Amino acid sequence: MNTNIKKNNIEINEITYKYQKGRCVFNNFSLQLNVNESTVITGKNGCGKTTLTKLIMGILKPNNGYIEIFGQETKKLTLGQIGEKIGYVFQYPERQLFSTSVMDELVFPLILKGYDKEEVDKRAEKMLKLFELNQVKNSYPFFLSYGEKRRLAIASVLMNKPEYIILDEPTASLDSERVEILSQVMDKLRAEKIGFLIITHNDYFMERHGDRIINMEEGEIISDKRL
Ligand SMILES: Nc1ncnc2c1ncn2[C@@H]1O[C@H](COP(=O)(O)OP(=O)(O)O)[C@@H](O)[C@H]1O
Ligand SMILES: [Mg+2]
Repeated sequence: MNTNIKKNNIEINEITYKYQKGRCVFNNFSLQLNVNESTVITGKNGCGKTTLTKLIMGILKPNNGYIEIFGQETKKLTLGQIGEKIGYVFQYPERQLFSTSVMDELVFPLILKGYDKEEVDKRAEKMLKLFELNQVKNSYPFFLSYGEKRRLAIASVLMNKPEYIILDEPTASLDSERVEILSQVMDKLRAEKIGFLIITHNDYFMERHGDRIINMEEGEIISDKRL
């Protein structure tokens, strides 16, 4: 097998996954994602989209089978190591906001990692402007509107400059103007060769950003098309 191809893939290999309390979500499920392209997954609520993203991120572990990202098995990687490579924006962004101010939410993780403060502040100021968060820069993230929380969650993931980004229903609670802003940011990231996995029901967003569109039903792929 060509290892170069493998390195550019996320490989989900014959996984089975069942929540402790619940039925089997995936049974022998396989999928290869090319991290250089933008893949959209769509499908009815409850078909397993979010579960799949959490399995890729190592937040959930498959009962059987394995997942490889960039040629490495996720079982052998820490959540931190996976997070360095893949940025993940949760379906419910408030679950990923921890800081006491919007600015801290952006800068704190990178400061902890020892990045230069001036450089980090500069990157954060750019994000605040891009995502129209300047006015709430000192606010407590908990009290932001839903749309602001989502924009902040996306901005804080981008602070890390990930190689690949997973967005779980990123347009939920954004008005069309803000969907457009997010779309423009994503176009720029695409130009920098960053790939995406986008979970969405939004037809406009799907067609604008998807190179490949996968439709799922009850833990199975029912169609897989290239645009
Ligand atoms: N924490 C959980 N415990 C038990 N069952 C769950 C849990 N989270 C999701 N499920 C179930 O797993 C299935 C897939 O859910 P999910 O991945 O969230 O679907 P989607 O994102 O496509 O709406 C659903 O039947 C859902 O009820
Ligand atoms: Mg979901």
